Amino acid sequence: MPNAVDWEALTKAARQAMEQAYVPYSRYPVGAAALTEDGRVVSGCNVENASYGLTLCAECSLVSQLQMTGGGRLVAFSCVDGEGNVLMPCGRCRQLLYEFRAPHMQLLTVSGVKTMDEVLPDAFGPENLSQ
Ligand code: THU
Repeated sequence: MPNAVDWEALTKAARQAMEQAYVPYSRYPVGAAALTEDGRVVSGCNVENASYGLTLCAECSLVSQLQMTGGGRLVAFSCVDGEGNVLMPCGRCRQLLYEFRAPHMQLLTVSGVKTMDEVLPDAFGPENLSQ
């Protein structure tokens, strides 16, 4: 089982990331932060676009930062809205996170701490593509 996660610290990092959001269209900032297996904290904010459908969710910039800072796997994740309240990652972003999950990855959700498998059951993933 994973070590105890400092959810307060992780959520604080998510709130800091949220402050960087670029949201001139929705005015709905989101921040996300995650702890990696090797103890790093990676984070991200949403970045919108005049072509609305091109909007990047906070989780997109988080997984990019993960990859750009050494890669690895995520053990814990927290996401907040503009008021700093816990936010449930959208369906697409659960899939983005699934790709980089460590075994037993946990997410702080509106209904408590849950595992990746609980928030994205029977997921399609890299295993499906392995020969
Ligand atoms: N958003 C995220 O950044 N992550 C989510 O999981 C849910 C939605 C952003 C996208 C858009 O900039 C704004 O929230 C409103 O949909």
